Amino acid sequence: MKDSPFIYGTTVSIHSFTNRESESAKLQSNLLNGINTTIISPRRWGKSSLVEKVITDINKKERKTKTVIIDLFSISSEEEFLECFAKEVIKASSSKWQEWMISGKEFFKKLIPKLSLGIDPVTDFSLSFDWHELKKNSDEILNLPETIAKKKNIKFIICLDEFQNLPSFNDYLIFEKKLRSCWQRHQSVTYCLYGSKRHMMTDIFNNPSKPFYRFGDIMLLQKIETKKWVSFICKGFTLTGKQIDEKTAEMIPAVMKNHSWYVQQLAHYTWNITHKKATAMEIHIALNELINANTPLYQKETESIGHTQLNLLKAVAKGETQFTSTFVMNKHQLGTPRNVSKNKTLLINNDIIHEINNKFEFVDPAFELWFKKQFFNRPYVS
Ligand SMILES: Nc1ncnc2c1ncn2[C@@H]1O[C@H](COP(=O)(O)OP(=O)(O)OP(=O)(O)O)[C@@H](O)[C@H]1O
Ligand SMILES: [Mg+2]
Repeated sequence: MKDSPFIYGTTVSIHSFTNRESESAKLQSNLLNGINTTIISPRRWGKSSLVEKVITDINKKERKTKTVIIDLFSISSEEEFLECFAKEVIKASSSKWQEWMISGKEFFKKLIPKLSLGIDPVTDFSLSFDWHELKKNSDEILNLPETIAKKKNIKFIICLDEFQNLPSFNDYLIFEKKLRSCWQRHQSVTYCLYGSKRHMMTDIFNNPSKPFYRFGDIMLLQKIETKKWVSFICKGFTLTGKQIDEKTAEMIPAVMKNHSWYVQQLAHYTWNITHKKATAMEIHIALNELINANTPLYQKETESIGHTQLNLLKAVAKGETQFTSTFVMNKHQLGTPRNVSKNKTLLINNDIIHEINNKFEFVDPAFELWFKKQFFNRPYVS
């Protein structure tokens, strides 16, 4: 059997990547022209995939531009960040590990890095500093890409994924100021900062009292349109010797509200159970399977929601809009207007609901289907 043409769970920069032509072009042009860029979107709409795709394209054609992608998801302190930053910048600066050792010595004035190589120097290269010295001279690391770029006559593009993790570091406020003041002076380094926790990202970049305010261009990534998904799905089936017609394929983005991860997941489940040609029945079975697979997650999510907050979510699911009208508050037992306002903020900050065109919606379309079935016994597809 051929491998599935539909991928979810990892970023999709080459195979399985679709559309995003205008976003790719814009991001590429920004990054090559020195415009720092922030990308914000809800979870799993495709930020990391987009950045990887653009960076792959840049790597293919720009010899003098060196690129770095760091995922901050598992980095929990300033020290870890600085060491990882230095290591990745040095690694990107040359393809030869012998040069990394030289860079490690040559480019630091105050800091003395401890460099070590393992059996396989390409993967076992490590770098560490004395923490006390590191903290005192962190600007030397933060300026490292600019220092190397100037000396070697190259440019850097540095992409930091899950950037909203930085505020969880101790003493973050001081660090944030330092980051900004170093990075804004860089002429040969462009930064791409992105992350999923929208309210945190927005607070970092859109709050006039914060150092990263107006750091660069802000791209609010949108969903991929239906037409593109349909041709992507049809092509995926055809290339692997199966079939689906356009009308049937359209059901997939329709039930998943064009959410990138879920469209791929539902397309994959459908493809998997399709013998020759997919029909609406295969999609229904696949949808059940998908929601069953995710149910433990949704149950956990629901259990973590407080009572009046859950009632507010039910009101959202019922399509209410006037949450503080006495009628709606009584009908759904939402508590006081203060409760409503607090719960709304909590649901938004936890990325469970978001506001689109003055209406609140679930962020996760499959969670919404599960929720409506669970609490109102509504079928997944009517
Ligand atoms: N351009 C695309 N074409 C096809 N599928 C895509 C595209 N972008 C994203 N996807 C699908 O969505 C999934 C999530 O993408 P990705 O991890 O890039 O999103 P993200 O916004 O970075 O998510 P997170 O918020 O969890 O970091 C991918 O695994 C893939 O299935
Ligand atoms: Mg991501």
